Amino acid sequence: MKVSVVTRSGRELFKGGLELSDSATVADLQEEIHKRSKKFYPSRQRLTLPIQPGSKEKAVVLTSKKSLKDYYSGNSDSLTVVFKDLGPQVEYRTLFFFEYIGPLLIYPIFYYFPVYQYLGFKGDRVIHPVQTYALYYYCFHYFKRILETFFIHRFSHATSPISYVSRNCAYYWSFAVLMSYYVNHPLYTPVSDLQMKIGFGFGIICQIANFYCHILLRNLRSPDGSGGYQIPSGFLFNIVTCANYTTEIYQWLGFNIATQTVAGYLFAAVAASIMSNWALGKHRRLKKIFDGKDGRPKYPRRWVILPPFL
Ligand SMILES: NC(=O)c1ccc[n+]([C@@H]2O[C@H](COP(=O)([O-])OP(=O)(O)OC[C@H]3O[C@@H](n4cnc5c(N)ncnc54)[C@H](OP(=O)(O)O)[C@@H]3O)[C@@H](O)[C@H]2O)c1
Repeated sequence: MKVSVVTRSGRELFKGGLELSDSATVADLQEEIHKRSKKFYPSRQRLTLPIQPGSKEKAVVLTSKKSLKDYYSGNSDSLTVVFKDLGPQVEYRTLFFFEYIGPLLIYPIFYYFPVYQYLGFKGDRVIHPVQTYALYYYCFHYFKRILETFFIHRFSHATSPISYVSRNCAYYWSFAVLMSYYVNHPLYTPVSDLQMKIGFGFGIICQIANFYCHILLRNLRSPDGSGGYQIPSGFLFNIVTCANYTTEIYQWLGFNIATQTVAGYLFAAVAASIMSNWALGKHRRLKKIFDGKDGRPKYPRRWVILPPFL
């Protein structure tokens, strides 16, 4: 079978098209493109079916496991696909690792090293118990996220654009500097013992709940990451679509109740707004997939992320 690969402007990428066996899959086509053009490894390629000029419909994205025959229309024995270069890619796990390793290494610097002396602070620095517990809590959180990245999550996408590494690291690393700087500052005033215990106690419960949510999400997919999107259920997922984000936000609230800094609350607010945005997208996607039509189940009524607001 013949496959013509064109760019979005309609230019043929390989003159005369590509010849593939009748049983070829989309993955085979991607390999063939890679063979011809070494730069375009499969995860860098986005293949879609052409759409009529001026059409408002979204282009159909080719799924690598599917057979090319599934995308043929009519009796035609040649197929045209539109190629888009997604740019250099990085493994999802690598992206997450760099995001999380920064805070894990940066936060302890302000606790252990005489940074404030270098910054001109004169006088002794007394370390309060809450600052020590905050260090353990914070580092435990990011250590847990690294472990979850490698041993729990079953991602559907193998890679993400390499440009996300600098953007996401800038976000996580700069907030790590800001939060650690203020929580460990020699002039830091601790909250009451009771408030500290309530904050950390509540935060730890939320971190454990967050871990359990990730186990439930993991069980929705098979080990190779296949299985698509399912209706999450059990525990807090029976009430909220993105219970993992809910517990993430609340565990930062716990940290902030215990440590009480503007920088910490600012980070929690930014993280909550990012996660709310993503949660809305995930909620809409699940409602679209599970629309109750043609034998598909209907997505149950649930909060998106933060009952009783959203
Ligand atoms: N502090 C912050 O700013 C911040 C921001 C974001 C996340 N986080 C934390 O990092 C964790 C991971 O983030 P994330 O955005 O990668 O989480 P996520 O997308 O909600 O889910 C984690 C894993 O579960 C899968 N999954 C989600 N919903 C599913 C469904 N309905 N059916 C099947 N599989 C499903 C995801 O698959 P896909 O690979 O297909 O997505 C992903 O592999 C969060 O839960 C949160 O604790 C923190």
